[in-house]
Amino acid sequence: MPFRFGHMLGIEPLSAEEILFLLDQSKPFQEIQRHPLKKLATLRGKTVALAFFEPSTRTRISFATAAARLGADQMNLQAESSSLKKGESLLDTVRTLDAMKPDCIVMRHSSSGAPDFVARNLALPVINAGDGTHEHPTQALLDALTIRDRRGTLEGLNVTILGDILHSRVARSNIHLLSKFGCRITLCGPAMWLPRELECLVPAGSAIRRVTRIEEALEDADVIITLRVQQERLHEPALAIDEYILQYQLTSERLRIAKADALVMHPGPMVRGLEIEPAVADGPQSCVLEQVTNGLAVRMALLFLMIGAETSSERDSSHAAD
Ligand code: NCD
Repeated sequence: MPFRFGHMLGIEPLSAEEILFLLDQSKPFQEIQRHPLKKLATLRGKTVALAFFEPSTRTRISFATAAARLGADQMNLQAESSSLKKGESLLDTVRTLDAMKPDCIVMRHSSSGAPDFVARNLALPVINAGDGTHEHPTQALLDALTIRDRRGTLEGLNVTILGDILHSRVARSNIHLLSKFGCRITLCGPAMWLPRELECLVPAGSAIRRVTRIEEALEDADVIITLRVQQERLHEPALAIDEYILQYQLTSERLRIAKADALVMHPGPMVRGLEIEPAVADGPQSCVLEQVTNGLAVRMALLFLMIGAETSSERDSSHAAD
């Protein structure tokens, strides 16, 4: 299949077919995570620049591990120690990285659209590792891989997304992805985090609804995606933490409203006792750690397709020219 990803900036522009292709390409990389020896030489000689302008633990480690397992070298920029702190512009910082000749840049930034901006200004493949409240495409892909493995399909599922939808790039990327497969999406949380505009994320005619009562949102759910709730966003008079826990925490009792085999997912970092009850986080329906392992497979597949597959197609075309 002739297939090339120039950049991976978001799920929105991808077709269902492209998403399935990416998930299929991730399958062999899932196998590798189970091997005693996990290192390949596929990207030997390639360099992946990791530019995290916003603190990140799991996503940065996941991309770094994915690159290492493919044999690539890494350049690491971390917000805390970068020259951004000294007043350098984003463009100057990434141009400096680019001048050290990496093969792609994996970027996280607190501003929505920052990776698009970099992609427009550098001749280098850009992977969005989360930008502001916009998108987190690899998270949605690893979630989709986990759902498809457990359910056999992505088609037509009832998916409930719980929590601070307004500020969540994970929610947005998942809404884009799952709506391409005809999932019925229920967004649930306090009204202040559920603006009507969220319904415009999906094409007209797609099933999406906003619900403020968790009991209603969980009815018939096949998949529940619980989002992290930032404590600093919960305060009087809008909504106090205790009130949030009382009204929206995913508890074992509430989980019984969903389908008996509903999947419980969380992108992490998880705040136990706030958005999710520990018994649910550790319970038999929880896929949280499986999501983390699948993150490696998805990111390895993406790096391979973006900077490894390129080499083979270049080779093919130069052979063709011979
Ligand atoms: C998410 C993020 O940073 O967008 N975490 C992650 O990448 N796994 C979710 C969050 O921080 O709440």
